[in-house]
Amino acid sequence: MNGQNEVLAAASPESVKDREASGCPVNGVLEPCVMVIFGATGDLTSRKLFPALYTLLCNGGLPERFAIVGAARGEMDTEAFRELMRKALVESGKPLDRWGEIAARMRYHRLVSYDHQPSYVALAALVGELDQEYGTGGNRLFYLALPPDLYGAATRMLGAAGLAMEHEQGRGWSRLVVEKPFGHDLASARELNEVLSESFREHQIFRIDHYLAKETVQNLLLFRFANAIFEPVWNRVYIKSLSIRAHETLGVEHRAGYYEQAGVIRDMFQNHLMQVLSLATMEPPSLFEADRVRDEKSKVFRCLRPFPTDSISSHLVLGQYVAGSVDGSRVPGYVEEPGVAPDSQTPTYAMMRVFIDNWRWQGVPIFLSSGKRLQEKRTEVVIEFKEVPYSMFRNVLGEHVTANRLTMGIHPDEVVNLTFQSKHPGPRLCLRSVTMHFHYGQGYRGPVLDAYEKVLIDCIKGEQILFWRQDGLELCWSFLTPIVEKCECKDRPALHLYKAGTMGPEAARAITGEGMW
Ligand SMILES: NC(=O)c1ccc[n+]([C@@H]2O[C@H](COP(=O)([O-])OP(=O)(O)OC[C@H]3O[C@@H](n4cnc5c(N)ncnc54)[C@H](OP(=O)(O)O)[C@@H]3O)[C@@H](O)[C@H]2O)c1
Repeated sequence: MNGQNEVLAAASPESVKDREASGCPVNGVLEPCVMVIFGATGDLTSRKLFPALYTLLCNGGLPERFAIVGAARGEMDTEAFRELMRKALVESGKPLDRWGEIAARMRYHRLVSYDHQPSYVALAALVGELDQEYGTGGNRLFYLALPPDLYGAATRMLGAAGLAMEHEQGRGWSRLVVEKPFGHDLASARELNEVLSESFREHQIFRIDHYLAKETVQNLLLFRFANAIFEPVWNRVYIKSLSIRAHETLGVEHRAGYYEQAGVIRDMFQNHLMQVLSLATMEPPSLFEADRVRDEKSKVFRCLRPFPTDSISSHLVLGQYVAGSVDGSRVPGYVEEPGVAPDSQTPTYAMMRVFIDNWRWQGVPIFLSSGKRLQEKRTEVVIEFKEVPYSMFRNVLGEHVTANRLTMGIHPDEVVNLTFQSKHPGPRLCLRSVTMHFHYGQGYRGPVLDAYEKVLIDCIKGEQILFWRQDGLELCWSFLTPIVEKCECKDRPALHLYKAGTMGPEAARAITGEGMW
């Protein structure tokens, strides 16, 4: 699109330019706090959380008065914990020039176990000391970077130690960050919510889906509701189908233990795909504010038409990869991966056709698909519009007029592409499909937050738009639980094998029709 860079630059208000120039990724004030990471010796802390905290510190995205406590069972002192985190930074490729600043703010607190009450009493004392030392105003952020079966114990102990209480006796706010998975079915999700709510109230709980923090996922709402021209056609009158894909080239990697229990529906559909679905289909909230946005998401989940479990195969195709070749390298099949049972029936691919029973979406098929070891890594939302109602060119063109298509690439291609018909240049009258292409980063040179940096900032700010609310979570599980139960029972749907490096099982075509995958 000619001249687009200039247009974008001209449209930027001074205040935005100033903020970008300063390198600060945050608008608004960040309140001081002490952050406690439970399970700080683990993979998530080393690979994601700590590098994200360090990056934020380097670019001014952390409050000035801030301290970090790593809490775990590992036998170590603060120096050893610092060394563990320093190595994590080296491994993540971060330059260590500001290491001293973050190291000085770190402490390690050893827990005898995650349900050992005296360990939490001692933790409360340490948090109190840091609060005095750093002047953090009694604000506390507790991050559960733990296996999910420990969430309940840690939360109860925090409550019993008085660490969940807010705004009394010198305390400021207290927030709890919970990582997915949030249960493995409706009953366990409810159980988890009950345990969390014994000590924390809903406004204190931040259930992370880091996917939502991707810029391009957030852009779905801005694209839809900050432009007047798309919303009028965003409905069953103009849209023929909607596809949401999260395709990966990676296999199960080192996560076989978890994945064998979860499978693709729990791993990808229950959280990421459902969230993207809600953003792509929800009604406009009256204000861009956490509860109003989440109200609209919940309405979408409530309108999902339950699957007919007796004829589930016409709505769902499951697959599992066998050996093949990805990016020119031979890769093993799923059942040959370390930690996977040789007769495993765990699906690594699923394609679902769902319907939303409301006025806007009645009758529009929505195809959700996700799989491992596919031909290409691609996450996107594709809107197929209906064909023109009547072709006035049929006498001269004698050809089919292809319908418009809007593609919102989420990862790795961060794009918005609109495909439409145009006259082919030249003396003859004929059509060609052309694409208007917008790359998300075009015209922008400022800092870009990675997903964990964004969610950490929002936790510190108390901004819940990007986090699951209890009702939305349970509504999603209400829809998916009968499906996963059906997939795990004796007369489950067939598991279609597909070669690694392909587009998934052929059978998926039967659901989408017209070769659309
Ligand atoms: N890793 C990721 O990339 C990722 C991505 C998305 C979500 N998550 C979620 O984030 C959470 C943390 O993930 P993670 O990969 O960091 O987990 P992890 O490495 O398996 O465990 C974190 C820490 O928890 C403690 N722990 C582990 N197993 C335990 C057990 N059976 N009993 C008591 N303590 C135990 C260990 O610390 P101590 O023994 O020292 O106490 C361990 O270092 C999980 O819920 C995971 O699903 C992780």
